[in-house]
Amino acid sequence: MAKGNYKILTYGCQMNEHESEKLAGILTAKGYVPAEKKEDAGMIVLNTCCIRESAESRIIAHIGALKTLARKNPELVVIVCGCMSQQDGMEASLRQKFPFISIVLGTHNIDRLGEYLDEFLEGRKYLNRVVSGSGTITEGTPVLREANTNAWVNIMYGCNNFCSYCIVPYVRGRERSREARDILAEVSELAKSGKYKTMTLLGQNVNSYGKDLEQKISFAGLIRQAAEIAPNQTICFMTSHPKDFSDELIRTIAAVPNISKSIHLPVQSGSNAVLRAMNRGYTREDYITLTQKIFKSIPDAAITTDIIVGFPGETDEDYLQTEELVKLIQFNSAFIFMYSKRSGTVAAKLDGQIPIAVKRRRIHRLQEIQIQISRNKRGK
Ligand code: SAH
Ligand code: SF4
Ligand code: F3S
Repeated sequence: MAKGNYKILTYGCQMNEHESEKLAGILTAKGYVPAEKKEDAGMIVLNTCCIRESAESRIIAHIGALKTLARKNPELVVIVCGCMSQQDGMEASLRQKFPFISIVLGTHNIDRLGEYLDEFLEGRKYLNRVVSGSGTITEGTPVLREANTNAWVNIMYGCNNFCSYCIVPYVRGRERSREARDILAEVSELAKSGKYKTMTLLGQNVNSYGKDLEQKISFAGLIRQAAEIAPNQTICFMTSHPKDFSDELIRTIAAVPNISKSIHLPVQSGSNAVLRAMNRGYTREDYITLTQKIFKSIPDAAITTDIIVGFPGETDEDYLQTEELVKLIQFNSAFIFMYSKRSGTVAAKLDGQIPIAVKRRRIHRLQEIQIQISRNKRGK
């Protein structure tokens, strides 16, 4: 017997997309069914992101717009979870601005959604379930996968890199790797199901997978085993951090036919001064050498990237170095962002914040250049 229906609104990265599949898995296991539109749903879950201010403002506007639905249906359950709610002070602010919210939880305990929901429905009293710390890894959470040809597989959670602009280590906690046997069991099950053409191994920095495990295993070792277990699927992976991309991994990608040759390798900037201030742990020259090594062993590699323009202190000269690097590497595609100040991060306190007009000029120029490069590459 169906209990009611739900709509999940997902913001942010692939990690969140996959976590929404877990939220859907929990809710369907409890007898809820998905609704087509939020207007028809008895429960709305917002799985949020706070990587840039623009993401956050959009979500806040979307929550605000739910007021009308909440007024029409006083029984409406509104749940806010994910990275945005994990930020310091956010839960109190959400509660104050939007009294119709039922439950707020962060990133560390979404597997307990079912429990919290029961608790809320019993008392119909607002619940703050944001917990601090790094969270533990829970296995066995049901997953309702989106019906498409790719299956996401988490291999690790959190991040230890503390790039100076980035909020992720604060809202996702320290790096934790899943046990290889659990990952490989999931890969094996997905392969047997025959439903997927690709599987994507997910982590903020997949190249540092396994460093925290008792039974040491490298990312290259893991992906090789995954590819063996799923010979009829292509194994993709993201995201790769340039500072940890090992020769062993390059050799593995080159040697194993069903490992994807698409490598997302965020460079962030082409200026050494900016890279240093970003705490990225590599230089422009390191990055160039790494891509040359990749192309030498994997001639059909497709390298994509992320770039931030307008990082505090970025001079015209620094920016031009990024332009030059983009022209030199010839990325298949690039996601280019304007630096966004994130409270609590090191870069938020730096002098030399760049005016929005300058950031806009730089992003437009760089996007134009990249569009042309991507077009040429596709035409090849
Ligand atoms: N873990 C991945 C990506 C995480 S976030 C990595 O290390 O590459 C995805 C992208 O968002 C980043 O690569 C970066 O380019 C961008 N980003 C992160 N914080 C940002 C900020 N404060 N302002 C603008 N862009 C940001
Ligand atoms: Fe953020 Fe850097 Fe970690 Fe990526 S590696 S999530 S950019 S801190
Ligand atoms: Fe992803 Fe956004 Fe969180 S990019 S890790 S959902 S802050």
